[in-house]
Amino acid sequence: MKLRLDKYLADMGLGTRTEIKEFIKKGFVTWNGEIVKKPEQKVDTQKDRVFYHGIEIPYHTMEYYMINKPAGVLTATEDKRQKTILDFFDHSIRNDLFPVGRLDKDAEGLLLITNDGALAHKLLSPKNHIPKRYFVIVSGIIEQQDMDAFAKGLFIPAYGKEKQKIEQKKETDRFAAFQAMPAKMKILFLDKEKKQSHVEIQIYEGKFHQIKRMCQAISKPVIYLKRISMGNLELDHSLKLGEYRALTEEEINNVRK
Ligand code: URA
Repeated sequence: MKLRLDKYLADMGLGTRTEIKEFIKKGFVTWNGEIVKKPEQKVDTQKDRVFYHGIEIPYHTMEYYMINKPAGVLTATEDKRQKTILDFFDHSIRNDLFPVGRLDKDAEGLLLITNDGALAHKLLSPKNHIPKRYFVIVSGIIEQQDMDAFAKGLFIPAYGKEKQKIEQKKETDRFAAFQAMPAKMKILFLDKEKKQSHVEIQIYEGKFHQIKRMCQAISKPVIYLKRISMGNLELDHSLKLGEYRALTEEEINNVRK
């Protein structure tokens, strides 16, 4: 395939077409060993070699999948002993896919699997506050005060090694690791017999065990956790646990927005 140099670099996530034109003109890009200053230079994606600031930028097509993660599977690319989310994919097709963000081993639901590092960075950057929604079953009956506490921003108790760090810092609230950003909690169903609540929780950050720790902070431990959306991407509920499918054009455009 032949492409303009600026399009080639934009497809590889190096910036917007305007930014890319600028750095081509500044001489940051070489094409087959020569500095080229013309954004319209045609590049053969199979044969030509393009470098940006001395780093080779090979052309690869981007792929995007969603998988409905089952419990019992690690969100990792490989593990010697345990099954990982990438074991569901045929490695002979390509070997550069990775999951965007993490779900705990016992959690289920939406994971985006791609080789688009720029998109992953955008979705995971704490500065971007990308919303994530979860269906959660907790032990205990949720009350208005619990929803208010979520909306205000809960203080999350320190976990494991965080405890030592906080004690060393001698902060006023020695047991709070951080204050969670305001989050939304909506009641779906209160099971008074089992003393459990089914809720939907939306958060805008993704700290380690975030939902479990937030629910623990209101003394309503998580029994079941499933991610149902990430940014503009919604889990396709027709996917059975462990099933995946490629994103549609529309989903790709939405998630990139
Ligand atoms: N919050 C958690 O506690 N676990 C997850 O897997 C995701 C969010």
